[in-house]
Amino acid sequence: MFLGLDLGTSGVKAVLIDADQRVVASSTAELSVSRPHPGWSEQNPDDWLTAAEQAIGELSRSHRGELGAVRGIGLSGQMHGATLVDASNRALRPCILWNDTRSHAEAKALDADPRFRKITGNIVFPGFTAPKLAWVKANEPDVFSKVAKVLLPKDYLRLWLTGETMSDMSDSSGTSWLDVGRREWSSELLAVTDLGEQHMPSLVEGTQPAGDLRGELASKWGMTGRIVVAGGAGDNAASACGLGVAHAGRAFVSLGTSGVLFAANDRYLPNPESAVHAFCHALPNTWHQMGVILSATDCLNWLAGVTGEKPAELTRDLGESLRTPGGVTFLPYLSGERTPHNDAAIRGAFIGLAHQSDRAALTQAVLEGVAFALRDNLEALKAAGTELHAVMAVGGGSRSRLWLKAIATALDLPVQIPADGEFGAAFGAARLGLVVATGAQPSDVMTPPTIAETIEPERALSSAYEDAYRRYLALYPALQGV
Ligand code: XUL
Repeated sequence: MFLGLDLGTSGVKAVLIDADQRVVASSTAELSVSRPHPGWSEQNPDDWLTAAEQAIGELSRSHRGELGAVRGIGLSGQMHGATLVDASNRALRPCILWNDTRSHAEAKALDADPRFRKITGNIVFPGFTAPKLAWVKANEPDVFSKVAKVLLPKDYLRLWLTGETMSDMSDSSGTSWLDVGRREWSSELLAVTDLGEQHMPSLVEGTQPAGDLRGELASKWGMTGRIVVAGGAGDNAASACGLGVAHAGRAFVSLGTSGVLFAANDRYLPNPESAVHAFCHALPNTWHQMGVILSATDCLNWLAGVTGEKPAELTRDLGESLRTPGGVTFLPYLSGERTPHNDAAIRGAFIGLAHQSDRAALTQAVLEGVAFALRDNLEALKAAGTELHAVMAVGGGSRSRLWLKAIATALDLPVQIPADGEFGAAFGAARLGLVVATGAQPSDVMTPPTIAETIEPERALSSAYEDAYRRYLALYPALQGV
């Protein structure tokens, strides 16, 4: 048996798989986000441990025998969070999460130093880890002076599980301190933020061992013998492992809180100018690119909140077939945007409201706005040398066939829906646990799921969508200065 643990923003998920990769059981425990000031987003790292104990505890009650047979564990997690621990491995402050934009000024300052883009291959986004440390140094010098290690969220789970401070290449790519082409820490960049390699966890590939489960936890969960914990991955690379997106040409779109267009690459293909993320994959000698939009399903949830309806009721208003884009355009920048704008200050907008703009028109504009933001991401990946022919769709928003039809039409690409089952980040993490415990070849393990349905672009609406996308494109520069 192999266990995958995904530390998400909204909860911890545990998935237990057998040697044939059949899902034996899964459980989740919820987490909440605290937003003490506008733009801030934090979680208490010890809440992650409580949630992980709860999720594994549930498996231990329902599947004690199977959990007891676990040989390998894989970890996945929300990326970029600054988890600061002191010399006794205690968390010094709440973790500053990936969607926290307080350090936008520090990010801008670091990004203006050409070494960052050159060495990391990426823009220093406000959500990344290095600018957060610059913010802590300036605003909480006492905390900064006590920092012994800077860990990513899933690596704080590892510290609890194994006692080791280690990380993997994919997650570490989102810190702004990794030399992504060489797959090693850059002491030059660390020094710019008054840190050194001694503050960083040691690095392994996602498929390599990174600690053994502590005996105390093993006996609590009925496990015996050596249980090895894999390097694991950032949640996007872990999802890619779950979906078999392991080679050039394979891609997925994830419609979660944030939206991601992810493509695997067999080479390092940076292009910071188009705000593409170029990161190490969780598999050796493999990289990936992704475009990230900060608000995807969050946009529909926001509209649901203000209209007092459930998201599914809003989309039901629109019927089953895709409508021609109307006069209303929505810009989905509720918490600023990463790809392609790298703009923490921009906010969302409805443009073109008229007397007849009813709830359905607003919902339609929201679905289209997110689809056009993903089209911007596709253009950014193209500019970075990646051509796609199809994408798999995952995440909560992919339950809406209508939204997927809008995305297929906006991207002009077939969108594939995997057959029911597990293929998310926790499943990908469990696959990494399997590889590390059995020595199996990653390419034999990271296979794609069966596709249940392929949604083709609505050709009759292609040119109307293209016109609407041109209108959408004109709006960001117009609003930028407002
Ligand atoms: C990726 C990113 C998000 C988080 C969400 O760069 O910030 O997708 O990983 O968990």
